[in-house]
Amino acid sequence: AKRVRVHHLRELKQRGEPWPMLTAYDMYTAELFDEAGIPVLLVGDSAANNVYGYETSLPVTVDELIPLVRAVSRSAKRALVVADLPFGSYQVSVEQAVATAVRFMKEGGAHAVKLEGGAAFAPHVRAITTAGIPVMGHIGFTPQSEHNLGGYRVQGRGENGDSVVADAVALQAAGAFAVVMEMVPAEVAKRVTHELDVPTVGIGAGPDCDGQVLVWQDMLGLRRAKAPRFVKRYADLAGVVLGAAERFAADVRGGEFPGPEHAFH
Ligand code: KIV
Ligand code: NA
Repeated sequence: AKRVRVHHLRELKQRGEPWPMLTAYDMYTAELFDEAGIPVLLVGDSAANNVYGYETSLPVTVDELIPLVRAVSRSAKRALVVADLPFGSYQVSVEQAVATAVRFMKEGGAHAVKLEGGAAFAPHVRAITTAGIPVMGHIGFTPQSEHNLGGYRVQGRGENGDSVVADAVALQAAGAFAVVMEMVPAEVAKRVTHELDVPTVGIGAGPDCDGQVLVWQDMLGLRRAKAPRFVKRYADLAGVVLGAAERFAADVRGGEFPGPEHAFH
C-alpha cells in the first residue's frame, strides 16, 4: 500500500473528510491499526503511562521511546508514523529540538515528530521543518506542562480562547503540518479548524476537528483507571485478558492444561 503523506491529510481536510489517529507502541498494534486503515499512528510520550508504568509523561526519555518508534515504523506499511518528543528533549533550545527530532527520524524511522507548545515553540517548529522533518503541533492541555497548568484542566475557556487560536496560527506559520488540540472547548476547536489550512486533530476538542486521536489502551479498554470524558471505549481488553489469564491459571492448577493434543510423543 502507498505510504500516507502529510499532503494526503491536507487533502482530506479540503474534502471535509474526518480521519482517525491512534497511538501505537509496538508491532501488533501497529500492524492491526494499519490494516484497519488508521492513516496516522502516534508513538506518544503517553508510553510513559501506558507502557513504562510511570505516573505522568514527564520521566520518559528519548532512549526509552526510540525502540518503540522503531517497532511501529517497521510494522506499519501504510500509516504515517509520528514520534512524540518527550519532556526535556526539545525545550532547552532550538538546536536541542532539531537534534532530538533527527534522532527519532534516523534511529526510530519515524516520518514526522510532534511537540507540545504554542507560539513560543514556533522557532523550534520552523527549525525542525527546515531540517526536512514534518512537525505536528500540540496545544490546549499539554501534559508535559501539567505542573504549570495546574493539573488536567480544559484550556482556552472564555477569553483564553483567542490565545489557543493565536498559538495554532503561529504553529501553522512556522510550518507545522497539523495541530493537535487537547481538552479545549469544542467552539474554540471549531474556530481553529476553520482558521487553519493544515488539519487539526482533536482529543477532547469536540466533533469539528479534522482528525480525532485517542490513546489505544483507553480506546480498547485495556487501561482500567477511570477514563476522561473524551474517551470512548470500543472494547474491554482488560476483561478479555484478565478472564483468559484466570482460565489458564485454573487449567494449569486443575491439570486441564496441557491436554493430549498439546503434547509430543
Ligand atoms: O502522547 C500521546 O498519546 C499524545 C496524544 C494523546 C495526542 O500526545
Ligand atoms: Na504526548
